Amino acid sequence: MGEREHWKNRSTFIMAAVGSAIGLGNLWRFPYIAAQNGGGAFLIPYFTALVTAGIPIMIIEYGLGIRSQSSANVAFGDINPKLRYIGWMAIMGAFVINIYYCAVMGWALKYLFDIGSISQWGSSIAASKTHFFVDTLGVSDHPFHFGGIQWPLFAGLLVTWLTIWQIVKGGLGRVGKVLLYSVPLPVILVIILVVRGLTLPGAAEGLNYYLSPDWARLLDGQVWLAAYGQIFFSLSVGFGTMIAYSSFMPRDTEIPNSAAITSFANCAFSFLAGFAVFSVLGYFAVASNLPVGEVAGSGPGLAFVVYPTALATLPVWVKGFAALFFITLLSLGIDSAFSLLETVATALSDKFNMSRHKSTTIVALVSFSLGIPFVTQAGILWLDIVDHFILSYLITFVGIAECIIVAYFLGVKNFTDEVNKTAEIKLGKIFGIMISVVTPAMLIVSFVTSLVQEFKTPYEGYPISALILIGGGSLLIVILGAAILGRANTNNGSERR
Ligand code: PFF
Repeated sequence: MGEREHWKNRSTFIMAAVGSAIGLGNLWRFPYIAAQNGGGAFLIPYFTALVTAGIPIMIIEYGLGIRSQSSANVAFGDINPKLRYIGWMAIMGAFVINIYYCAVMGWALKYLFDIGSISQWGSSIAASKTHFFVDTLGVSDHPFHFGGIQWPLFAGLLVTWLTIWQIVKGGLGRVGKVLLYSVPLPVILVIILVVRGLTLPGAAEGLNYYLSPDWARLLDGQVWLAAYGQIFFSLSVGFGTMIAYSSFMPRDTEIPNSAAITSFANCAFSFLAGFAVFSVLGYFAVASNLPVGEVAGSGPGLAFVVYPTALATLPVWVKGFAALFFITLLSLGIDSAFSLLETVATALSDKFNMSRHKSTTIVALVSFSLGIPFVTQAGILWLDIVDHFILSYLITFVGIAECIIVAYFLGVKNFTDEVNKTAEIKLGKIFGIMISVVTPAMLIVSFVTSLVQEFKTPYEGYPISALILIGGGSLLIVILGAAILGRANTNNGSERR
């Protein structure tokens, strides 16, 4: 294989990492997770999770990518050959979540075409729900009742895959060019949405709901779990993505400050996106005489059900703002989706000495095909189950493993000394305490609590057989995939050097 590709400079690298982190998770997931978990008080566990897990693990991933100049499997295999399996598990996690992430991008694309009739389907929450669950998803009553393929969603999925395939196969040069638009664009668009939201009557009601803390919720373990889960998903850590992205930087790259910039940029954006969402919900709540809590408590439907309905009640420019909202979602999601494709394709290229073109094409084709169940009438049910199992178990496990591997296999001192050679902010004792005790302890508690909860009450009331087959099946695919890829003969030998 030729010389390893590199980002043009550190700014491009940080922009790529920020682009991966800032995604659908910030505008669609963060606001409703915050609302469901104590509103303003959620920000305390959220920022605690950022400091005790997000930033330390981001530093670990940057450190491993830069020192190994390779994907997660080699980064871990360098420390101990057997650990390469953990690297492959992270990469398989990226592979699985991109399958449904692109399906959600497909929903947003389809909605862009529905805007013409938003005043009809968005006339009330009930009408909007029908539009989303019945007309768009055609959702079935059981995860194994697939019904038919929803062709507009199939088309959205196909277009999304063709786009990210086209970008990633063009190499880091092309990725860098796209990032110049896909990172600033949603920031500008969200600022426009925030200004629009804040100038609406009733905005204050929404912000009160978003920002006034429900302190009692801080004693609830689930709130803390939700905060850790959101930090992992939002910062793109635990998936090998940040390892792959940093492996395209030279060995003398600054790490802790780069990780802090990426993490704070992402969380600041989430906080800002909350203003865009809750100001409009406040306006809607006042206009329709409903409590904000009742409007906002709608969970994952927020972006596709409640928000468009709220927009449809605007006095002017309904279609313009609705288009702006879905374009924002798409431009947010695209650089996260291609970072996931890049993670898996680079790992295959690194291992099998395969050209970027070939590895990207293989991964895109397989992932697109596996995405087809997600555009059937059972799609959203599959998505919900797979997302829950991968985030609660696989990614938490990878996070724990990353801390333990660096703290106890590589050694805190080795790692810290290496990183500090080029650090703008030097890593001190606190970092060591964090990765050897605090972060793994928090994550282990999170893992065990989820597991106990799982056995007590089936997740979201799904049939046990579906949870075992779809949730357990996705974990099994990850484990088998990691075992097969970790054992397969490699061409360049770097995995076991
Ligand atoms: N961070 C992205 C978001 O918030 O939408 C999702 C994501 C991208 C997760 C890349 C994991 C990853 F590796």
